[in-house]
Amino acid sequence: MRKPEIGIGLVGSGFMGRCHANAFRSVSGLFDVPAEPRLELIADANDDLAAHAAQALGFARSTGDWRTLVADDAIDIVAITAPNVLHAPIAHAAIAAGKTVYCEKPLSTTAALALEMTEAADAAGVITMVGFNFLRNPMVKLAREIIAAGEIGDVTGFRGRHAENYMADPDVPHSFRTDPQGGGALADIGSHIISMARYLLGPLAEVQADCRTVHATRPMSSDTDQRSSVEVDDMTHALIRFESGVSGSLEANWAATARTMDLSWEITGTRGALAFTQERMNELRLWRGAPGRSGYTRIEAGPAHPPYGAFCPAPGHHLGFNDLKVIEVAELLAAHAGHSVCSPDFREAYEVQRTVEAMQQSHRLRQWVAL
Ligand SMILES: NC(=O)c1ccc[n+]([C@@H]2O[C@H](COP(=O)([O-])OP(=O)(O)OC[C@H]3O[C@@H](n4cnc5c(N)ncnc54)[C@H](O)[C@@H]3O)[C@@H](O)[C@H]2O)c1
Repeated sequence: MRKPEIGIGLVGSGFMGRCHANAFRSVSGLFDVPAEPRLELIADANDDLAAHAAQALGFARSTGDWRTLVADDAIDIVAITAPNVLHAPIAHAAIAAGKTVYCEKPLSTTAALALEMTEAADAAGVITMVGFNFLRNPMVKLAREIIAAGEIGDVTGFRGRHAENYMADPDVPHSFRTDPQGGGALADIGSHIISMARYLLGPLAEVQADCRTVHATRPMSSDTDQRSSVEVDDMTHALIRFESGVSGSLEANWAATARTMDLSWEITGTRGALAFTQERMNELRLWRGAPGRSGYTRIEAGPAHPPYGAFCPAPGHHLGFNDLKVIEVAELLAAHAGHSVCSPDFREAYEVQRTVEAMQQSHRLRQWVAL
């Protein structure tokens, strides 16, 4: 029997738009999803960009105005992969139209706007999901299970980092990522390691951060040498304390020369430790310290770690970044059909955004800030 179809509307066709489109296209071949996604309508900044994207990514129709997409009756899920400043207006319109909203991180440009989005979604009773795709890694899920089962004893410390090099060159031009409204390394990639810290060890209680702009100016765009000042952080280092009492540190850094995807963390406990980096995303390292046998053991991802087996029946063949988005979309479709609860939703993403702002406030005040 043919599955019911579900209409997908995607806003934005850049790096993440392509990743979302790929996930919606391939999910039903890998997962037993309740409905078959139909790539119905794509919106971009103008008609030409949208038409080109529709052809390249397999959408039936296109529009240069996201409002048209959100109002379209054939759309059930609105996926937002446009620049951060557009997340709030698009999400509010989609919520008002009763659509499920799947938004990229960071949820918005300020915690206040993120809270408004969360409250609007709650009031309307619509399903929301936010693209913290790194949480979908089976190795990260395994780490959470190991911690919850007490296999490393009582957790004593956390050291987390999201470091990449894509802004290390001072001649990389301004973009939405350096927009004073909600830009900066902390909001852009710090949001990922904050969401990871919360997923593994629970809510944070207080933070003390140092935010630093490394490159004072950047070209205003890719087609000019004219430069303007940078008002956001290139790197932030923070001390953190969880509600559980566990303490640690966290770094967000997009000027980290030599690092390409170091979303990494190490968690110590009274009887063991865990370590992970997204640069080797198919491995989790576990230390259990048997006398004379101590040292990290490398656990290799395989079908024993669901949903790895949905992609491949053999260990060692490896999942990739785009596969995490496919897993995320499978979970979105299950939640849309009422089979599960969506997570991380807007409320969780608001908590992440609140943490980003607490760190920025701590930097300004030069003191600890409670959350
Ligand atoms: N989850 C992740 O791992 C991850 C990775 C990268 C980016 N992101 C997030 O995804 C979002 C997009 O980032 P990106 O790297 O894809 O950016 P991008 O610049 O590659 O793509 C942005 C897209 O939005 C389009 N756009 C701009 N104005 C628009 C408008 N008015 N209406 C419709 N479309 C418009 C652009 O033309 C482009 O197609 C950001 O919020 C970013 O933080 C998430």
